[in-house]
Amino acid sequence: MKANQIKPLFLAAIAVVLFATALPLSADVAAGKAAFDKTCKSCHGADGKGNAAIAKMMKAELRPLGSKEVQAKTDAELSKDITEGTGKMKGIKSLAASDVKSVIEFVRTLKN
Ligand code: HEC
Repeated sequence: MKANQIKPLFLAAIAVVLFATALPLSADVAAGKAAFDKTCKSCHGADGKGNAAIAKMMKAELRPLGSKEVQAKTDAELSKDITEGTGKMKGIKSLAASDVKSVIEFVRTLKN
């Protein structure tokens, strides 16, 4: 195949990948919000800013999930915090791997 034949194919492939990844994103955020509301909201609050009463009870600081510090973490780090726990937070075992991914998509929307 000649180089000038490869280029349009390459662009088409990129378009397909972009389209395929862009579509489920909004679905992921919605699913992530639902999972967050069910599993995380009681401690972190609907907006991720943290439930002060819980923080006091757990003697922990609940950094807003939208804060620079939390948002600076990579998806892998967030995933580890969620599934294995961090500091005083115990790992959440009730989420399927796909739910963890969606929850992270939702947490990314809390950026302030
Ligand atoms: C029982 C209360 C509780 C639940 C439920 C809970 N967390 Fe936490 N989470 C905490 C506490 C407390 C901390 C702070 C831990 C520490 O630093 O000692 C924390 C920390 C975190 C951090 C790290 C924040 C930082 O400052 O770097 C992330 C990310 C996080 N939680 C996400 C989640 C997500 C997502 C869920 C739901 C899947 C969830 N948490 C469920 C109490 C909870």
